[in-house]
Amino acid sequence: MKTRYLQFTDRDLAIAGELIRAGELVGFPTETVYGLGANAFDVNAVKETYAVKGRPVDNPLIVHIFDKAQIYDIASEVNSYAQTVIERVMPAPITIVLPKRDIIGGVVTAGLPSVAIRMPQSLEARSFLRAAAVPVTAPSANLSGRPSPTTWQRVGEDMDGRIAAILCGEPCGVGIESTVLDLSSDEPTVLRPGAVSAEYLSELLGRTVNILSDPTSKVNSPGIRYKHYAPKVPMVLELDDDCDKLCAFYDGKVAEGYRPVLWVSRPHRFGGRNAVSMGVNDREAAAKLFETMRTLETEYDFIIASFCWRKNSIYDGPASRGVLDRLMRACGHNII
Ligand code: TXA
Ligand code: MG
Repeated sequence: MKTRYLQFTDRDLAIAGELIRAGELVGFPTETVYGLGANAFDVNAVKETYAVKGRPVDNPLIVHIFDKAQIYDIASEVNSYAQTVIERVMPAPITIVLPKRDIIGGVVTAGLPSVAIRMPQSLEARSFLRAAAVPVTAPSANLSGRPSPTTWQRVGEDMDGRIAAILCGEPCGVGIESTVLDLSSDEPTVLRPGAVSAEYLSELLGRTVNILSDPTSKVNSPGIRYKHYAPKVPMVLELDDDCDKLCAFYDGKVAEGYRPVLWVSRPHRFGGRNAVSMGVNDREAAAKLFETMRTLETEYDFIIASFCWRKNSIYDGPASRGVLDRLMRACGHNII
């Protein structure tokens, strides 16, 4: 298949919309990561999404919308917490999980009685979704297990020749996938941390929002230990910003014959060693996370990442939990 690279012109948006309605897959930008869009009402197109990504069929997809009114076509119940989030937070890098209507098929939700719904903040994303005119399922546009793409060029690396078109938009500003907030019961729970923090949501809803699989807990939970977002080369994670420990580990890897890199808050502290910046704060760390991972894996053969999230540290902010979660998965929970 020859993949078309489309621009954000009226003509190309119309083509992208037609492709979606014809059951084809289209890569498109959002503020979080690029998505792999398909018509949510087209069972075959949705099935194709799983096939193209090599995604396990028990991992449900998010349905993307451009208008809040669409939520009521898809969800059967919108409780008062959901109403608050819909009114006060969306559009934003957040996904809400609600009980589904029959119109959303089991292929989309992997057989679950709930559906995940997201209205992106990105105007480019919404212009594409408006052109599609149907709700659009979209996982991140990477091959399963690879770091999510945050530029159209990275989508091309994974998807060229496999999908009908890629909309070439801006690089993603947020850089990590949306916060997934389960509002299908009266116990609001964050299932995946993102840029909209549980602390903010707790304040907004006037009650504690639970967090599933807290990345800071060292509990050996099988569900969160599987490898994900992994770079092609081995990676470890250090959590204390301990310069001596990082240098010793690096030197050990050099002695073993590796060409390692330190991925740290302040690269200048590591003498002549290969070192690159993780970012000056939590937002920058999130924005650059996957792009840096995809660059480092081509230039080095061992990644030594460091992310120290403490009160009043430079990485203490709303996106920290999401960054730490992605780093933990990327290194397969291999902490040094
Ligand atoms: O930022 C994002 O959310 C991006 C962009 C493209 O919008 N999309 C994305 O999709 O990250 P994906 O497929 O990579 O992640 C979807 C997440 C998975 O963790 C999945 O388990 C969860 O949403 N999910 C989807 N439907 C669900 C449901 N009904 N109940 C619970 N979790 C659900
Ligand atoms: Mg993904």
